[in-house]
Amino acid sequence: MSEETLDLHYGKHHQSYVDTLNDLAAGAVSDDDDLVKLISESEGTLFNQAAQVWNHTFFWRSMKPSGGGDPPGEVADALSSAFGSVEDFKDEFSAEAAGHFGSGWAWLIHDGSGLKVISTHDAHNPIPHDQRALLTLDLWEHAYYIDHRNARPDYISTFFDHLVSWDWVANQLAGV
Ligand code: FE2
Repeated sequence: MSEETLDLHYGKHHQSYVDTLNDLAAGAVSDDDDLVKLISESEGTLFNQAAQVWNHTFFWRSMKPSGGGDPPGEVADALSSAFGSVEDFKDEFSAEAAGHFGSGWAWLIHDGSGLKVISTHDAHNPIPHDQRALLTLDLWEHAYYIDHRNARPDYISTFFDHLVSWDWVANQLAGV
């Protein structure tokens, strides 16, 4: 991910959601729990801004410098039992992300019964559906257009090859 993309995505897009949310919900959000509560209870513009703040924070945490590689044992075991193998999980997640029409997010979630791959439109996320997010990928064009132009599949393979933080997935999995 280029410096230009990171500057624009984190410094402009994400910041703009934070600024707008602060204007709309001044004083109502002071920590993560407040934000999750707001997402669960709001709709329309307030939901969109609050969810986009949460989604982006989760997205940055889903990556790390020199990420990618093989997941740790507990993550590999969980992915293998749900999807067949780690590679099968990557294939399913990549197909969901590449096939998602328009703006949105691809997710690995735990829905209470097991691990699933889903995608959501615009700002929507797993929180209102009582699903626990484990990993996400931003599918809005601002996330990949500078580095990969219209080639969303290249962005997805770069995510798995160089960026994904399996440590973050392991942390989320431990809380399920
Ligand atoms: Fe984004």
